[in-house]
Order: sequence, then C-alpha cells, then structure tokens
Amino acid sequence: MTYESILVETHDRVGLVRLNRPQQLNALNSQLMEELATAIEAFDREPAIGSIVITGDERAFAAGADIKEMAAASAVEMLQRDNISRWDRLRRVRKPIIAAVSGYCLGGGCELALACDMIVASESARFGQPEINLGVMPGAGGTQRLTRAVGKAVAMEMVLNGRFLTADEALRYGLVNRVVPVEAYLEEAIKLAQEIAARAPVAVRLAKEAVHKAFETSLTDGLEFERRLFYFLFATEDQKEGMRAFIEKRKPEWKGR
Ligand code: CAA
Repeated sequence: MTYESILVETHDRVGLVRLNRPQQLNALNSQLMEELATAIEAFDREPAIGSIVITGDERAFAAGADIKEMAAASAVEMLQRDNISRWDRLRRVRKPIIAAVSGYCLGGGCELALACDMIVASESARFGQPEINLGVMPGAGGTQRLTRAVGKAVAMEMVLNGRFLTADEALRYGLVNRVVPVEAYLEEAIKLAQEIAARAPVAVRLAKEAVHKAFETSLTDGLEFERRLFYFLFATEDQKEGMRAFIEKRKPEWKGR
C-alpha cells in the first residue's frame, strides 16, 4: 500500500508510522487520518509486529486537526464527514501503541497522543488543547482522556484557557511516561516498543485490554474482568513456558499462543 501523508517502517517487531505533512506541522486532515488508521490496522493484523509507534517530526508531532479543511464546513457537513470516527478505529487496535512526541502536540494532535497507550516525549514537546482560541472545543477526547490523565484542575486550564504544558509539566501531571533529549526521543520510544514486542503477545494484548477497562467500568466489574483474563492466560502455552522458565532459571521463549 502506498501512502501520501504518512511514512511506514518496521524496526524488528515494531511498526512505525511517521505523520508526514511537515509544511503543515502534520495537521491531521482526513487523508492523513484515513492513512494512519489503515496503516495501524495493518500492523495490528500482522503477526510479525508486536507493537506500534506513531511519531511526527522534531518540530511537531501534530498541530491539530486541519483547520483549513474544516473552517468553512457547516455542522451538517461535519456530521456527515464524521472524521473523528477514525479515532475509534485506533481505539480498537489490540497491540500497544506508543506516541513519540516532539514539538507541538496540540488539539487533535494531543488527542491522538492521548489515544495511544503510552507517550515518550522530547524535552521540546508542548501539549495543548487550543481549540478555544478557534471558537470551538476539543472533539476527539480532549475533554475526556485528558481529564482522566491530568485531572480536572489542569484539564480545565488547558481546555478553557488554552494553557500549554511543557514536557516536564506533562511528566509531572502523568500525561507522559518519560521525557528524553530531542536527539533520543524516537529511539527511546522504539526501544520501549521493542521491549514490549518481545513479551508474551497474548498476555500483552489482554493486559492492555484490562488497563483500558479501568477507564470504562466500576471497580468490582473491572476486578472480575481482570481475574477472568488472568485465569484464561493459563490456557496459553506461553504461561506454561513463562513459569517453567522461571523455575528452570532461563529466559522464556514465547510462542504467542
Ligand atoms: N491546521 C492547518 N494548518 C496548520 C495547523 C492546523 N491545525 N497548524 C499549523 N498549520 C500550518 C500553518 O497554517 C502554516 O501553513 P502556511 O505556511 O501554509 O501558512 C504552517 O502550518 C506552519 O504554521 P505557522 O506558520 O503557524 O507556525 P508557527 O511556528 O508560527 O506556529 C503553532 C506554530 C503555534 C503550532 C501554530 O501553527 C498554531 O497555532 N496552529 C494551530 C494549533 C491549533 O489551533 N490546533 C487545534 C486545531 S482544531 C482541532 O484539533 C479540533 C479537534 O479537537 C479534533
């Protein structure tokens, strides 16, 4: 498959997607989002891939949804296009997704990073939901995932008053996993993705599902869900191998079944 607005690479068992509209600070137009969702779904289906990294470039992860594409649209056109439904396609991806963020990570760009499972940020990363400056509000998770990530106080300031967070603030508020020098952020994200991709694939898949469940359900239902998945993993060869390898003091060899 050939893409125009993204670049796709593999690094061992890691699938890497680079948003590639540098002149527009990787603004997320419908073509880019369609290509991104298609590429990520392809990696999700590919058994040789264990995890996925999404990145932009040093100046911008993404400066938001493409303002020029939607500026003149009516509400009915926005509803009919329903571009944001592509975010739901990312949500259904079963393999872990890491966002490698440098520079501007704004609006839909911040929402895209929040839709990933982890974020590795460069020291130059800036996170914000500046939609209020355009007379609108976040539309792809900025009031929901951001609030769950950083809490009400900081989310309110970002959403109502366009406050940007530095990378260090984002780390302090729990939005990102780690902050590294600009030269190293992508390498660090790929390394983290490779470590996860080397783990038992079925356990990784179910563990991701269980953590996501924590945001959707009551504690009692979540604990029951988790327990069922835990017991289910005893039906996998990897559970037998993992525990046998521990007892025999050797490294396990995962089969993914
Ligand atoms: N949409 C379309 N084009 C964008 C863009 C966006 N979100 N962000 C940047 N660009 C374009 C600029 O128009 C400019 O293009 P031209 O050279 O053709 O004029 C190019 O990228 C470079 O941008 P700037 O010249 O503005 O660069 P700067 O360094 O002066 O400023 C910036 C950088 C502060 C990030 C500024 O570009 C900016 O404020 N961008 C918009 C950020 C924003 O409001 N994002 C929210 C979008 S709405 C949204 O995302 C809705 C949602 O929830 C789904």
